[in-house]
Amino acid sequence: MKKYADMTREELLAEREEVQALYDALKAKDLKLNMARGKPSTEQLDMTSEMMDILRSDSDYICDGIDVRNYGNLEGLPSCQKLFAEMLGTKPENIFCGGNASLTLMYDTIAKAYTHGRVMSEKPWGKLDKVKWLCPAPGYDRHFAITQSFGAEMITIPMTAGGPDMDLVEELIRDEAVRGMWCVPKYSNPDGIVYSDETIRRIASMKPAAKDFLLMWDNAYCMHEFFGEHLPFPDILSECEKYGNADMVFEFASTSKITFPGAGVAVFACSPNNMAYMKKLMNIQMISFDKVNQLRHVRYLKNKDGVIALMKRHAAILGPKFRCVLDWLEREIAPRGLAEWEKPMGGYFVSVNTMPGIAKETWRLSKEAGLTMTGAGATYPYGKDPLDSNMRVAPSLPPVEQLEQAMEIYCVSMRLAALNKLLAG
Ligand SMILES: Cc1ncc(COP(=O)(O)O)c(C=O)c1O
Repeated sequence: MKKYADMTREELLAEREEVQALYDALKAKDLKLNMARGKPSTEQLDMTSEMMDILRSDSDYICDGIDVRNYGNLEGLPSCQKLFAEMLGTKPENIFCGGNASLTLMYDTIAKAYTHGRVMSEKPWGKLDKVKWLCPAPGYDRHFAITQSFGAEMITIPMTAGGPDMDLVEELIRDEAVRGMWCVPKYSNPDGIVYSDETIRRIASMKPAAKDFLLMWDNAYCMHEFFGEHLPFPDILSECEKYGNADMVFEFASTSKITFPGAGVAVFACSPNNMAYMKKLMNIQMISFDKVNQLRHVRYLKNKDGVIALMKRHAAILGPKFRCVLDWLEREIAPRGLAEWEKPMGGYFVSVNTMPGIAKETWRLSKEAGLTMTGAGATYPYGKDPLDSNMRVAPSLPPVEQLEQAMEIYCVSMRLAALNKLLAG
């Protein structure tokens, strides 16, 4: 098989005729397929529904000497703090167990910085002339939506195989207007990259000009291997503390993709200073979160080993789906030289970087043939991918038979988009 870039015009024309026929045949099937959002499949949800049998009207609702049905313990059930502390490798007292979504806790952490300032701020960020924010990209669209909604000026930081480009980060944080940075350190969304020890050390030891710089460490995929064994990962809180940066970081995690998205438990982890400050502010917002759900999770998951065992069962469902996507790319796209991608071992996505200038067109052609994908550009701040190249593939929801069809449409659409581009240019 020849790379498209090495084909003569005649060869490209012949190839386009062939691929157009393939595309038209696929479109005629009138399929409705979706690889847009990273949702667990019904099979995964059915598997974890056994958790719902744990609490009944006659269950023991006392845990850690606390009646979980009543008000109290703003920071959460001690056993739940302990469970997440094991998962994240920190101390239970550094964990704040919130409600059903880590995204809410992230939004709230940033909102509080704008309205009240951080524990060490001179004034609330809302009173600053300018707030700039570092956004490693491709990244998570909902992170960028949060900082955009507060009016922060978002700066794209390219990703390398070991995490964000730290040379650039270290240069930019000399600007006092740069107040924070998003990070998804393990199985990043969408690349599936695991930050290297060196990247983590450089992040933890940053010396930003802004004294109230906020490192948003979203460890959403801390337990989420779909190939291979559980990968231990450094604790960012103690890393930051080592370099005198204990108060710089907030870490986030949830059981959204361990038990139920939207009905799990979310946490943040932070230094004692940050914890005292956040509890003071949150105590005005609420009396306590849902400790009944926290207890359900503690009794079901038990401890870190319990989570690892459950994640192996998820992996048995997810692994073949990721294998399917990677096999299609390897077979249909790699030999034609049309895109590159990381080969993730965990997380929820495969991130495909097409040849420049064809991501949007590949998305459009896929859509017209019945396949919905995450919008091209969505993985960049302001939805603008400078190279029009990155596409996020989310294979978790459809069954493998549908994924086979979806990947066929995707690969044929990419080939057609590439041929049209090469023949036009
Ligand atoms: C990196 C990342 N963070 C957070 C979330 C959402 O987490 P939660 O359900 O806890 O709000 C997602 C969901 O896709 C994600 O990919």
